[in-house]
Amino acid sequence: MVREWDPRNASSAEIASLLETLNAILATDLPQDPPWRETCLREYLAEVMPGERRISWVAQAEPAADGTPGPILGHVHVLLLGSIGVLEVLVHPSVRRRGIGRDLVLRAARRVYQEGFESIGVEVVGGTPAIAFYESLGFAREYVETRSVLDLNEVDWAELAQMSTGLGTGYHVQFHPGGPPDELIEAYARAKAEIRDVEDGELRPSSYDPQRLRDSLDCLHRRGMKPYIVLALHEQTGEVAGLTEVVVPAQHPTRADQYDTIVVQDHQGYGIDRAIKARMLLELRSAEPQLEEVQTWNAQANEAMLKVNAELGYRPDREWCEYSVDVAELVHRLDPTR
Ligand SMILES: CC(C)(COP(=O)(O)OP(=O)(O)OC[C@H]1O[C@@H](n2cnc3c(N)ncnc32)[C@H](O)[C@@H]1OP(=O)(O)O)[C@@H](O)C(=O)NCCC(=O)NCCS
Repeated sequence: MVREWDPRNASSAEIASLLETLNAILATDLPQDPPWRETCLREYLAEVMPGERRISWVAQAEPAADGTPGPILGHVHVLLLGSIGVLEVLVHPSVRRRGIGRDLVLRAARRVYQEGFESIGVEVVGGTPAIAFYESLGFAREYVETRSVLDLNEVDWAELAQMSTGLGTGYHVQFHPGGPPDELIEAYARAKAEIRDVEDGELRPSSYDPQRLRDSLDCLHRRGMKPYIVLALHEQTGEVAGLTEVVVPAQHPTRADQYDTIVVQDHQGYGIDRAIKARMLLELRSAEPQLEEVQTWNAQANEAMLKVNAELGYRPDREWCEYSVDVAELVHRLDPTR
């Protein structure tokens, strides 16, 4: 049975059942990834940025003979932002190839169509059945990134400490757990505006104006995801010359996510990228002692960033692909009667 589902008022048993399905999927498709925990899972599923909406459906097994609700075996949500809907579908490995995935996509696609959106995007992990699934539904590949993972047990900490000090004179580096301080928000947002050029094709708009940046940080905190920032300040102008962001999610606190790293064009060539990333790892080692790995995503054409990551010890892990489809075509393909 498929029904619309709201994580904000779902029962704890439903949240726990969805977690079980998610972890069964990870064990099958991405066995190297850490299993998720229940901490802040409801908030992770429910909280959105101002102006965005997330609508969810679940596929639930029939109730048991004694009336106990059946487990949640499938889940889809679509995040409506800007002009597109971003989709995510999960089906428990024990019930795959029975049309549940297709049915969930149809529910979401119909709603996205009714709401007047034109296209749907999705992130698809390379080397998993999701590639064949989305291609069978007519989604086209738009963009490919490489995910790389750094194992902190393999880091040479003495070398990293040296890297962290190897930046040109005229800059100083600051560490800000929780996000940039308010007096630096505007300078920080100006530096983030730089990434718009290189993020072409990304599903999520970058937070390049101060209010959007504040909203984005608030949203991260509400979802149980703790941001850490290291930035390089240009002493002469007070401008943010470079920044790097890592988020430690309560749902998988042993593996952190690297978000943006930016060195503003006028400040490139002074070793800022290497120094701020090295400093971040040194700080995380004491701030988050349970942390074992950091994962990052890079465009395959971004050779400079890939080189620095390789020096730090990141190893390429998987392709991470963005696919998209025209909503009207998708609805017609899945439900030709309409
Ligand atoms: C992708 C996924 C949603 C598919 O769910 P599903 O219920 O098995 O999909 P369906 O049964 O509706 O399949 C529809 C079509 O997709 C294609 N397809 C699905 N799985 C496939 C596979 N393993 N190999 C080849 N084609 C496949 C087929 O064309 C299939 O039609 P058919 O069975 O009539 O041949 C499911 O495998 C899944 O949850 N994967 C993990 C998703 C994810 O994002 N993981 C990230 C880590 S959490």
